[in-house]
Amino acid sequence: MRYNTAMNESTYKQRRDRLQVMMRDGVAVIGNARLQTRSNDTEYPYRPNSDFYYLTGFEEDNAILLLSKREGVFKTVLFVQKKVPEMELWTGERLGVEAAKRRFDVDEVFSSDAYREQLSTLLAEHTLVYFDLFSSDAVYTTLKEVTQEMLHTRAITISPRTFSDITKLTQEMRLIKSEAEVALIREALAITQKAHHHAMKVCEEGMLEYALQAEYEYVFKKEGAYSDAYTTIIAGGNNANTLHYIKNDQRLKEGDLVLVDAGAEYGYYASDITRTYPVNGTFSPAQKELYEIVLDVQLKIIAAIKPNGSKKALQALSERLLTEGMVKLGILEGSVKSLMDEKAHKQYYPHGIGHWMGIDVHDPCPYSDDNGEELLFAKGMVLTIEPGIYLPEDDDNVPEKYRGIGIRIEDDILVTTDGCENLSEGIAKSVAEVERMCQGYGH
Ligand code: GLY
Ligand code: MN
Ligand code: MN
Repeated sequence: MRYNTAMNESTYKQRRDRLQVMMRDGVAVIGNARLQTRSNDTEYPYRPNSDFYYLTGFEEDNAILLLSKREGVFKTVLFVQKKVPEMELWTGERLGVEAAKRRFDVDEVFSSDAYREQLSTLLAEHTLVYFDLFSSDAVYTTLKEVTQEMLHTRAITISPRTFSDITKLTQEMRLIKSEAEVALIREALAITQKAHHHAMKVCEEGMLEYALQAEYEYVFKKEGAYSDAYTTIIAGGNNANTLHYIKNDQRLKEGDLVLVDAGAEYGYYASDITRTYPVNGTFSPAQKELYEIVLDVQLKIIAAIKPNGSKKALQALSERLLTEGMVKLGILEGSVKSLMDEKAHKQYYPHGIGHWMGIDVHDPCPYSDDNGEELLFAKGMVLTIEPGIYLPEDDDNVPEKYRGIGIRIEDDILVTTDGCENLSEGIAKSVAEVERMCQGYGH
Protein backbone atom coordinates (compact mmCIF):
# COMPACT_ATOMS: atom_id res chain seq x y z
CA MET A 1 0.00 0.00 0.00
CA ARG A 2 1.20 3.48 -0.86
CA TYR A 3 -0.13 5.15 2.25
CA ASN A 4 -0.32 4.37 5.89
CA THR A 5 -3.74 5.68 6.83
CA ALA A 6 -5.89 5.46 9.93
CA MET A 7 -8.56 3.76 7.86
CA ASN A 8 -8.77 0.03 8.10
CA GLU A 9 -10.97 -2.76 6.83
CA SER A 10 -13.68 -2.02 9.42
CA THR A 11 -14.06 1.51 7.96
CA TYR A 12 -14.51 0.12 4.46
CA LYS A 13 -16.86 -2.63 5.69
CA GLN A 14 -19.03 -0.02 7.42
CA ARG A 15 -19.22 1.97 4.19
CA ARG A 16 -20.24 -1.10 2.19
CA ASP A 17 -22.87 -1.94 4.79
CA ARG A 18 -24.21 1.60 4.65
CA LEU A 19 -24.40 1.49 0.88
CA GLN A 20 -26.25 -1.82 1.01
CA VAL A 21 -28.75 -0.30 3.44
CA MET A 22 -29.32 2.57 0.97
CA MET A 23 -29.71 0.21 -2.03
CA ARG A 24 -32.99 -1.33 -3.06
CA ASP A 25 -32.96 -5.09 -3.68
CA GLY A 26 -30.48 -5.59 -6.50
CA VAL A 27 -26.84 -6.02 -7.45
CA ALA A 28 -24.23 -3.25 -7.56
CA VAL A 29 -21.18 -3.65 -9.81
CA ILE A 30 -18.22 -1.39 -9.02
CA GLY A 31 -14.97 -2.01 -10.86
CA ASN A 32 -11.62 -0.51 -10.09
CA ALA A 33 -9.89 1.64 -12.73
CA ARG A 34 -7.62 -0.04 -15.28
CA LEU A 35 -4.15 1.04 -16.22
CA GLN A 36 -4.37 3.61 -19.02
CA THR A 37 -2.09 3.45 -22.03
CA ARG A 38 0.05 6.54 -22.55
CA SER A 39 1.59 5.48 -25.83
CA ASN A 40 2.32 2.12 -27.46
CA ASP A 41 3.11 -0.13 -24.47
CA THR A 42 3.74 2.49 -21.79
CA GLU A 43 1.19 3.46 -19.19
CA TYR A 44 0.19 6.39 -17.02
CA PRO A 45 0.78 5.99 -13.28
CA TYR A 46 -2.11 4.05 -11.77
CA ARG A 47 -4.87 5.74 -9.77
CA PRO A 48 -7.78 3.69 -8.34
CA ASN A 49 -11.40 4.56 -9.10
CA SER A 50 -12.52 6.82 -6.25
CA ASP A 51 -15.73 4.95 -5.37
CA PHE A 52 -14.05 1.56 -5.52
CA TYR A 53 -11.29 2.83 -3.26
CA TYR A 54 -13.79 4.48 -0.90
CA LEU A 55 -15.53 1.12 -0.46
CA THR A 56 -12.49 -1.17 -0.27
CA GLY A 57 -9.25 0.73 0.30
CA PHE A 58 -7.82 -1.61 -2.35
CA GLU A 59 -5.30 -0.25 -4.85
CA GLU A 60 -4.92 -3.07 -7.38
CA ASP A 61 -5.86 -2.94 -11.01
CA ASN A 62 -8.47 -5.36 -12.37
CA ALA A 63 -10.46 -5.73 -9.15
CA ILE A 64 -14.27 -5.67 -8.97
CA LEU A 65 -16.75 -5.36 -6.12
CA LEU A 66 -20.24 -6.87 -6.28
CA LEU A 67 -22.73 -5.90 -3.61
CA SER A 68 -26.14 -7.50 -3.51
CA LYS A 69 -29.23 -7.18 -1.41
CA ARG A 70 -32.24 -9.47 -1.46
CA GLU A 71 -35.04 -9.55 1.10
CA GLY A 72 -32.81 -8.02 3.75
CA VAL A 73 -29.83 -10.29 3.04
CA PHE A 74 -26.59 -8.59 1.97
CA LYS A 75 -23.87 -10.32 0.04
CA THR A 76 -20.46 -8.92 -0.85
CA VAL A 77 -18.14 -10.48 -3.38
CA LEU A 78 -14.70 -9.20 -4.32
CA PHE A 79 -12.70 -10.18 -7.38
CA VAL A 80 -8.93 -9.70 -7.37
CA GLN A 81 -6.18 -10.64 -9.78
CA LYS A 82 -4.90 -14.12 -9.12
CA LYS A 83 -1.26 -14.63 -8.33
CA VAL A 84 0.84 -15.35 -11.43
CA PRO A 85 4.56 -15.32 -10.54
CA GLU A 86 5.70 -14.83 -14.16
CA MET A 87 3.52 -11.70 -14.42
CA GLU A 88 4.43 -10.46 -10.96
CA LEU A 89 8.11 -10.57 -11.95
CA TRP A 90 7.31 -7.78 -14.43
CA THR A 91 4.53 -5.76 -12.88
CA GLY A 92 4.88 -6.33 -9.15
CA GLU A 93 3.41 -8.45 -6.42
CA ARG A 94 -0.33 -9.05 -6.34
CA LEU A 95 -2.30 -9.66 -3.18
CA GLY A 96 -3.99 -12.74 -4.64
CA VAL A 97 -7.19 -14.53 -3.66
CA GLU A 98 -6.04 -16.25 -0.47
CA ALA A 99 -4.53 -13.14 1.13
CA ALA A 100 -7.54 -11.10 0.01
CA LYS A 101 -9.80 -13.51 1.90
CA ARG A 102 -7.84 -12.72 5.04
CA ARG A 103 -7.69 -8.98 4.48
CA PHE A 104 -11.27 -8.21 3.44
CA ASP A 105 -14.37 -8.77 5.54
CA VAL A 106 -16.44 -9.91 2.57
CA ASP A 107 -18.51 -13.04 1.96
CA GLU A 108 -16.48 -14.36 -0.96
CA VAL A 109 -13.32 -13.59 -2.87
CA PHE A 110 -12.68 -14.91 -6.37
CA SER A 111 -10.10 -14.39 -9.05
CA SER A 112 -11.06 -11.66 -11.53
CA ASP A 113 -11.28 -14.42 -14.16
CA ALA A 114 -14.41 -15.67 -12.41
CA TYR A 115 -16.26 -12.36 -12.68
CA ARG A 116 -18.36 -13.26 -15.72
CA GLU A 117 -19.54 -16.59 -14.31
CA GLN A 118 -20.28 -15.24 -10.82
CA LEU A 119 -22.05 -12.22 -12.21
CA SER A 120 -24.39 -14.37 -14.26
CA THR A 121 -25.20 -16.51 -11.23
CA LEU A 122 -25.95 -13.48 -9.09
CA LEU A 123 -27.93 -11.67 -11.76
CA ALA A 124 -30.27 -14.66 -12.13
CA GLU A 125 -31.80 -13.61 -8.81
CA HIS A 126 -32.20 -9.90 -9.53
CA THR A 127 -34.03 -7.49 -11.78
CA LEU A 128 -32.22 -4.34 -10.66
CA VAL A 129 -28.56 -3.63 -11.40
CA TYR A 130 -26.66 -0.65 -10.10
CA PHE A 131 -23.53 0.17 -12.00
CA ASP A 132 -20.75 2.67 -11.61
CA LEU A 133 -20.38 4.90 -14.65
CA PHE A 134 -16.69 5.22 -13.85
CA SER A 135 -15.96 1.51 -13.82
CA SER A 136 -13.67 0.31 -16.57
CA ASP A 137 -15.13 -0.52 -19.96
CA ALA A 138 -14.28 -4.19 -19.47
CA VAL A 139 -16.42 -4.46 -16.33
CA TYR A 140 -19.28 -2.72 -18.05
CA THR A 141 -19.01 -4.69 -21.28
CA THR A 142 -19.13 -7.98 -19.40
CA LEU A 143 -22.19 -6.78 -17.51
CA LYS A 144 -23.87 -5.89 -20.79
CA GLU A 145 -22.95 -9.20 -22.44
CA VAL A 146 -24.11 -11.28 -19.48
CA THR A 147 -27.41 -9.41 -19.38
CA GLN A 148 -27.92 -9.82 -23.12
CA GLU A 149 -27.27 -13.57 -22.89
CA MET A 150 -29.83 -13.86 -20.11
CA LEU A 151 -32.41 -11.95 -22.11
CA HIS A 152 -31.84 -14.30 -25.05
CA THR A 153 -32.30 -17.39 -22.92
CA ARG A 154 -36.01 -18.06 -22.70
CA ALA A 155 -35.70 -20.49 -19.81
CA ILE A 156 -34.47 -17.68 -17.57
CA THR A 157 -37.39 -15.87 -15.97
CA ILE A 158 -35.56 -13.37 -13.78
CA SER A 159 -33.04 -11.08 -15.41
CA PRO A 160 -31.91 -7.47 -15.02
CA ARG A 161 -34.41 -5.02 -16.52
CA THR A 162 -33.70 -1.91 -14.50
CA PHE A 163 -30.34 -0.16 -14.46
CA SER A 164 -29.47 2.45 -11.94
CA ASP A 165 -26.46 4.66 -11.27
CA ILE A 166 -24.73 3.64 -8.02
CA THR A 167 -22.75 6.89 -7.92
CA LYS A 168 -25.97 8.67 -6.92
CA LEU A 169 -25.65 6.83 -3.59
CA THR A 170 -21.87 6.84 -3.16
CA GLN A 171 -21.69 10.56 -3.89
CA GLU A 172 -24.22 11.24 -1.16
CA MET A 173 -22.11 9.14 1.22
CA ARG A 174 -18.94 11.02 0.31
CA LEU A 175 -20.38 14.46 1.08
CA ILE A 176 -19.69 14.45 4.83
CA LYS A 177 -16.08 13.69 5.66
CA SER A 178 -15.10 11.69 8.75
CA GLU A 179 -12.29 12.86 11.00
CA ALA A 180 -10.00 10.27 9.44
CA GLU A 181 -10.75 11.64 5.98
CA VAL A 182 -10.14 15.23 7.12
CA ALA A 183 -6.84 14.07 8.63
CA LEU A 184 -5.73 12.90 5.18
CA ILE A 185 -6.74 16.22 3.63
CA ARG A 186 -4.74 17.98 6.36
CA GLU A 187 -1.72 15.82 5.50
CA ALA A 188 -2.13 16.60 1.79
CA LEU A 189 -2.27 20.30 2.70
CA ALA A 190 0.78 20.15 4.94
CA ILE A 191 2.71 18.85 1.93
CA THR A 192 1.11 21.38 -0.42
CA GLN A 193 2.08 24.18 1.96
CA LYS A 194 5.72 23.10 1.83
CA ALA A 195 5.57 22.95 -1.95
CA HIS A 196 4.05 26.42 -2.40
CA HIS A 197 6.53 27.96 0.05
CA HIS A 198 9.50 26.23 -1.58
CA ALA A 199 8.36 27.25 -5.07
CA MET A 200 7.82 30.88 -4.05
CA LYS A 201 11.46 30.94 -2.99
CA VAL A 202 12.98 29.32 -6.08
CA CYS A 203 10.76 31.00 -8.67
CA GLU A 204 12.70 33.45 -10.85
CA GLU A 205 12.66 35.27 -14.12
CA GLY A 206 13.39 33.13 -17.18
CA MET A 207 12.35 29.88 -15.56
CA LEU A 208 10.16 27.61 -17.67
CA GLU A 209 6.70 27.17 -16.22
CA TYR A 210 7.15 23.40 -16.25
CA ALA A 211 10.41 23.77 -14.36
CA LEU A 212 8.49 25.53 -11.59
CA GLN A 213 5.95 22.69 -11.84
CA ALA A 214 8.82 20.27 -11.22
CA GLU A 215 9.65 22.11 -7.98
CA TYR A 216 6.11 21.40 -6.76
CA GLU A 217 6.19 17.79 -7.85
CA TYR A 218 9.60 17.33 -6.23
CA VAL A 219 8.30 18.51 -2.85
CA PHE A 220 5.08 16.48 -3.16
CA LYS A 221 6.99 13.28 -3.74
CA LYS A 222 9.81 14.01 -1.33
CA GLU A 223 7.26 14.62 1.42
CA GLY A 224 5.38 11.37 0.76
CA ALA A 225 2.61 12.29 -1.66
CA TYR A 226 2.78 9.86 -4.57
CA SER A 227 0.95 12.21 -6.90
CA ASP A 228 -0.57 15.60 -7.43
CA ALA A 229 -4.36 15.72 -7.04
CA TYR A 230 -4.74 17.21 -10.55
CA THR A 231 -2.43 18.59 -13.20
CA THR A 232 -0.67 21.62 -11.81
CA ILE A 233 -1.44 24.97 -13.44
CA ILE A 234 1.62 27.22 -13.74
CA ALA A 235 0.46 30.32 -15.54
CA GLY A 236 2.88 33.20 -15.96
CA GLY A 237 1.48 36.65 -16.80
CA ASN A 238 -1.38 36.61 -19.28
CA ASN A 239 -1.50 32.79 -19.28
CA ALA A 240 -3.40 33.12 -16.00
CA ASN A 241 -6.36 34.31 -18.06
CA THR A 242 -6.73 30.81 -19.49
CA LEU A 243 -8.56 29.21 -16.58
CA HIS A 244 -7.35 25.64 -16.94
CA TYR A 245 -3.95 26.44 -18.43
CA ILE A 246 -1.87 23.25 -18.14
CA LYS A 247 0.53 23.60 -21.05
CA ASN A 248 3.02 25.19 -18.66
CA ASP A 249 5.60 25.58 -21.42
CA GLN A 250 6.41 29.31 -21.44
CA ARG A 251 9.12 31.21 -19.62
CA LEU A 252 8.31 33.35 -16.59
CA LYS A 253 8.89 37.03 -17.19
CA GLU A 254 10.33 39.73 -14.99
CA GLY A 255 7.55 41.92 -13.64
CA ASP A 256 4.81 39.31 -14.20
CA LEU A 257 2.77 37.43 -11.66
CA VAL A 258 2.59 33.67 -11.78
CA LEU A 259 -0.68 31.95 -10.90
CA VAL A 260 -0.06 28.48 -9.51
CA ASP A 261 -2.93 26.07 -8.85
CA ALA A 262 -1.28 23.03 -7.29
CA GLY A 263 -2.24 20.45 -4.66
CA ALA A 264 -0.81 17.18 -3.46
CA GLU A 265 -2.92 14.04 -3.13
CA TYR A 266 -2.30 12.10 0.06
CA GLY A 267 -3.95 8.78 0.92
CA TYR A 268 -6.00 9.43 -2.23
CA TYR A 269 -7.41 12.63 -0.72
CA ALA A 270 -6.96 15.91 -2.55
CA SER A 271 -5.82 19.37 -1.70
CA ASP A 272 -6.49 22.26 -4.08
CA ILE A 273 -4.61 25.49 -3.54
CA THR A 274 -4.03 28.51 -5.75
CA ARG A 275 -1.55 31.22 -4.97
CA THR A 276 -0.59 34.09 -7.28
CA TYR A 277 2.81 35.62 -6.66
CA PRO A 278 5.32 37.99 -8.26
CA VAL A 279 8.08 36.35 -10.32
CA ASN A 280 10.58 38.92 -9.03
CA GLY A 281 9.37 38.77 -5.44
CA THR A 282 7.63 42.17 -5.27
CA PHE A 283 4.10 43.07 -6.40
CA SER A 284 3.86 46.14 -8.63
CA PRO A 285 1.37 48.78 -7.41
CA ALA A 286 -1.23 47.70 -10.00
CA GLN A 287 -0.78 43.99 -9.21
CA LYS A 288 -1.10 44.77 -5.53
CA GLU A 289 -4.32 46.75 -6.00
CA LEU A 290 -5.95 43.85 -7.82
CA TYR A 291 -4.55 41.25 -5.43
CA GLU A 292 -5.91 43.07 -2.39
CA ILE A 293 -9.38 43.13 -3.93
CA VAL A 294 -9.39 39.37 -4.58
CA LEU A 295 -7.91 38.63 -1.17
CA ASP A 296 -10.41 40.81 0.65
CA VAL A 297 -13.28 39.03 -1.12
CA GLN A 298 -11.80 35.62 -0.36
CA LEU A 299 -11.45 36.42 3.36
CA LYS A 300 -15.02 37.75 3.54
CA ILE A 301 -16.45 34.68 1.82
CA ILE A 302 -14.57 32.31 4.13
CA ALA A 303 -15.80 34.28 7.15
CA ALA A 304 -19.39 33.74 5.95
CA ILE A 305 -19.22 29.92 5.88
CA LYS A 306 -21.19 28.12 8.57
CA PRO A 307 -23.68 25.27 8.94
CA ASN A 308 -26.96 25.97 7.11
CA GLY A 309 -25.18 28.47 4.87
CA SER A 310 -25.41 27.99 1.13
CA LYS A 311 -22.97 27.92 -1.75
CA LYS A 312 -25.40 29.92 -3.89
CA ALA A 313 -25.37 32.69 -1.28
CA LEU A 314 -21.56 32.66 -1.29
CA GLN A 315 -21.56 32.81 -5.08
CA ALA A 316 -23.86 35.85 -5.06
CA LEU A 317 -21.79 37.54 -2.36
CA SER A 318 -18.55 36.90 -4.25
CA GLU A 319 -20.02 38.33 -7.46
CA ARG A 320 -21.23 41.46 -5.67
CA LEU A 321 -17.96 42.05 -3.80
CA LEU A 322 -15.78 41.45 -6.85
CA THR A 323 -17.97 43.76 -8.92
CA GLU A 324 -17.65 46.46 -6.25
CA GLY A 325 -13.88 45.96 -6.31
CA MET A 326 -13.69 46.18 -10.09
CA VAL A 327 -15.78 49.37 -10.08
CA LYS A 328 -13.45 50.83 -7.47
CA LEU A 329 -10.45 50.16 -9.71
CA GLY A 330 -12.19 51.49 -12.83
CA ILE A 331 -12.28 48.09 -14.54
CA LEU A 332 -16.07 48.18 -14.71
CA GLU A 333 -18.10 51.36 -14.97
CA GLY A 334 -21.65 51.90 -13.77
CA SER A 335 -23.71 50.99 -10.74
CA VAL A 336 -22.92 47.67 -9.10
CA LYS A 337 -26.57 46.66 -9.37
CA SER A 338 -26.91 47.34 -13.08
CA LEU A 339 -23.53 45.73 -13.82
CA MET A 340 -24.64 42.64 -11.98
CA ASP A 341 -28.02 42.62 -13.70
CA GLU A 342 -26.19 42.72 -17.03
CA LYS A 343 -23.75 40.08 -15.76
CA ALA A 344 -20.90 42.38 -16.84
CA HIS A 345 -18.69 41.00 -14.06
CA LYS A 346 -18.88 37.49 -15.52
CA GLN A 347 -16.44 38.53 -18.22
CA TYR A 348 -13.71 38.90 -15.61
CA TYR A 349 -14.95 36.44 -12.97
CA PRO A 350 -16.44 33.65 -15.07
CA HIS A 351 -16.25 30.69 -12.68
CA GLY A 352 -17.83 29.42 -9.50
CA ILE A 353 -16.72 30.37 -6.01
CA GLY A 354 -15.73 26.80 -5.18
CA HIS A 355 -16.59 23.10 -5.15
CA TRP A 356 -16.66 20.06 -2.88
CA MET A 357 -13.29 18.42 -2.36
CA GLY A 358 -12.38 14.97 -1.08
CA ILE A 359 -11.14 11.80 -2.77
CA ASP A 360 -11.61 13.73 -5.99
CA VAL A 361 -10.44 17.31 -6.26
CA HIS A 362 -13.84 18.14 -7.70
CA ASP A 363 -15.63 15.72 -5.39
CA PRO A 364 -18.74 14.74 -7.34
CA CYS A 365 -21.05 15.05 -4.34
CA PRO A 366 -24.53 16.53 -4.76
CA TYR A 367 -25.20 20.25 -4.55
CA SER A 368 -28.97 19.83 -4.38
CA ASP A 369 -31.47 17.25 -3.16
CA ASP A 370 -33.85 15.14 -5.24
CA ASN A 371 -36.30 18.05 -5.40
CA GLY A 372 -33.66 20.40 -6.74
CA GLU A 373 -33.38 22.24 -3.41
CA GLU A 374 -29.87 23.37 -2.60
CA LEU A 375 -28.11 21.33 0.11
CA LEU A 376 -27.07 23.56 2.96
CA PHE A 377 -23.65 23.41 4.58
CA ALA A 378 -23.22 20.92 7.41
CA LYS A 379 -20.38 19.90 9.69
CA GLY A 380 -17.83 17.72 7.91
CA MET A 381 -18.29 19.11 4.40
CA VAL A 382 -15.11 20.32 2.69
CA LEU A 383 -15.14 22.90 -0.07
CA THR A 384 -12.76 25.23 -1.86
CA ILE A 385 -13.11 28.99 -1.92
CA GLU A 386 -11.42 30.45 -4.98
CA PRO A 387 -12.44 33.90 -6.21
CA GLY A 388 -10.48 35.37 -9.09
CA ILE A 389 -10.21 38.29 -11.48
CA TYR A 390 -8.91 37.69 -15.00
CA LEU A 391 -8.03 40.62 -17.26
CA PRO A 392 -6.79 39.62 -20.74
CA GLU A 393 -3.91 41.58 -22.20
CA ASP A 394 -5.87 42.38 -25.37
CA ASP A 395 -8.96 43.80 -23.63
CA ASP A 396 -9.04 47.52 -24.43
CA ASN A 397 -11.86 48.10 -21.95
CA VAL A 398 -9.53 47.33 -19.06
CA PRO A 399 -7.26 50.14 -17.77
CA GLU A 400 -3.90 49.50 -19.35
CA LYS A 401 -2.00 48.95 -16.13
CA TYR A 402 -4.22 45.96 -15.25
CA ARG A 403 -4.17 44.24 -18.64
CA GLY A 404 -2.59 40.79 -18.75
CA ILE A 405 -3.08 40.15 -15.02
CA GLY A 406 -4.99 37.14 -13.74
CA ILE A 407 -5.33 36.47 -10.02
CA ARG A 408 -6.98 33.61 -8.14
CA ILE A 409 -6.59 32.80 -4.46
CA GLU A 410 -7.87 29.39 -3.35
CA ASP A 411 -8.10 27.70 0.05
CA ASP A 412 -9.73 24.50 1.34
CA ILE A 413 -12.39 24.93 4.01
CA LEU A 414 -13.96 22.50 6.49
CA VAL A 415 -17.46 23.28 7.77
CA THR A 416 -17.45 22.91 11.57
CA THR A 417 -20.16 22.86 14.27
CA ASP A 418 -20.45 26.62 14.48
CA GLY A 419 -18.52 28.02 11.52
CA CYS A 420 -15.62 26.81 9.47
CA GLU A 421 -11.92 26.08 9.58
CA ASN A 422 -9.55 27.16 6.84
CA LEU A 423 -7.50 23.97 6.50
CA SER A 424 -4.89 25.83 4.44
CA GLU A 425 -4.57 28.79 6.79
CA GLY A 426 -0.79 28.32 7.00
CA ILE A 427 -0.02 28.94 3.33
CA ALA A 428 1.36 32.45 2.72
CA LYS A 429 -1.39 34.66 1.36
CA SER A 430 -1.25 38.31 2.38
CA VAL A 431 0.87 40.60 0.19
CA ALA A 432 3.45 40.91 2.97
CA GLU A 433 3.60 37.13 3.63
CA VAL A 434 3.86 36.28 -0.07
CA GLU A 435 6.58 38.84 -0.72
CA ARG A 436 8.52 37.66 2.32
CA MET A 437 8.33 34.07 1.14
CA CYS A 438 9.27 34.95 -2.45
CA GLN A 439 12.23 36.97 -1.18
CA GLY A 440 13.54 33.91 0.67
CA TYR A 441 12.37 34.50 4.21
CA GLY A 442 9.87 32.36 6.09
CA HIS A 443 9.35 28.65 5.81
N1 GLY B 1 -7.64 22.93 -9.52
C1 GLY B 1 -8.89 23.01 -10.15
C2 GLY B 1 -9.79 23.90 -9.42
O1 GLY B 1 -9.35 24.79 -8.74
O2 GLY B 1 -10.98 23.73 -9.42
MN1 MN C 1 -7.48 24.77 -7.87
MN1 MN D 1 -10.62 24.34 -7.01
